[in-house]
Amino acid sequence: MRIMTVIGNRPQFVKAAAVSLKLRVDHDELIVHTGQHYDDELSRVFFDELGIPAPDRQLGAGSGSNTAQTARMLEALEPLLDELEPDMVLVYGDTNSTLAGALVAAQRRVPSAHVEAGMRSFDRAMPEELNRVLADQACDLLLCPTETAIDNLAREGLGERAQLVGDAMADVSLQFAPIAAERSRVLEEHDLEPGEYLLATVHRAGNVDVPARLELLVELFEALGERTLLPLHPRTRARLEAAGWLERLERVEALTVTAPLGYLDFLRLASDARAILTDSGGVQKEAYLLETPCVTLRDTTEWVETVEAGWNVLVDLDKNAALAALERDPPPVERPELYGGGNAGERICAAISAYTSAP
Ligand code: UD1
Ligand code: UDP
Repeated sequence: MRIMTVIGNRPQFVKAAAVSLKLRVDHDELIVHTGQHYDDELSRVFFDELGIPAPDRQLGAGSGSNTAQTARMLEALEPLLDELEPDMVLVYGDTNSTLAGALVAAQRRVPSAHVEAGMRSFDRAMPEELNRVLADQACDLLLCPTETAIDNLAREGLGERAQLVGDAMADVSLQFAPIAAERSRVLEEHDLEPGEYLLATVHRAGNVDVPARLELLVELFEALGERTLLPLHPRTRARLEAAGWLERLERVEALTVTAPLGYLDFLRLASDARAILTDSGGVQKEAYLLETPCVTLRDTTEWVETVEAGWNVLVDLDKNAALAALERDPPPVERPELYGGGNAGERICAAISAYTSAP
């Protein structure tokens, strides 16, 4: 079968790394890169480090409002379906690239599969929540990372299309953690000792696009008083620069602000950090898998199991709550297997093969 995979940004490249090579054993896969992320440090580095096959097509959609960006992708994807005639379209996660791939396939009546289906924050103010709900409505095969996701889809009347396969991102972090430990020199480059620094990432529109929220975030970093590395997402850098607050962050002595990091450096930092502060979905999960306590700078999460297991605390942008979370007792020794144990890629490929070969 010919599978057209539509991906376009950082977390999707990581997820595709668990699936693409395995998919190619039995299928003809074509990767379409929407161009939502285009800087080398958000895109090329992941193909290089994770061995993802090079994209067959580049759409060059670039940046813009959610609507404009999605519209550009839709317009570029439609003729590609005519040209490539895929038997299935495969999409990942919850970004504008996900929605564009899912919608164009549904409109053309091409079967489609959604990896990381069924995740919900129940916060419709997040563009990602809208993308997830709409992609799940549009797709035929809903491949879920957790039981929670299966339950969410059952409540929305989509249970018959859903299958539990585990989490693709978990496969990649489990596979690459030992490689990162061996190859990455990032701790040495930044003069960091294992267990003696914090790692932080922040990029959610809800946190950085509203100046009052962005200022709370700056104040939170000013209050930390502990060695912290912050690889800055370009959205966040742009908003800080526009507000004139990047210098404020750079003046915080214990804080090191860097460009976004490659996967191996980031993974090594995440596994050796004392704790992680983040508003990223993927990073919350990786923290759990790498046994690093996580403080989430949001008031909701899709990865509720990490909170229930005692390894993740939601503090929104409340600096006192963040400081308290960083001081709390160590998380429970017991860490249940939440995300499939590293074989989601195989299960995703098996589900796709079964679907495409069904009479
Ligand atoms: C997108 C996803 C988000 C995901 C994140 C992963 C949506 C709605 N959002 O958010 O769910 O968590 O990717 O990182 O799809 N920019 C650059 N260089 C790039 C790409 C972007 O400088 O290569 C800058 C541009 O100023 C752009 C801004 O970052 O306007 C935001 O990029 P965009 O892709 O729209 O959203 P993200 O915040 O990256
Ligand atoms: N990541 C990375 N370098 C960084 C920050 C994150 O390699 O500087 C990786 C991280 O390990 C995870 C993925 O990017 O695999 C998460 O992407 P992001 O936080 O941008 O998106 P989200 O998961 O929130 O959609």
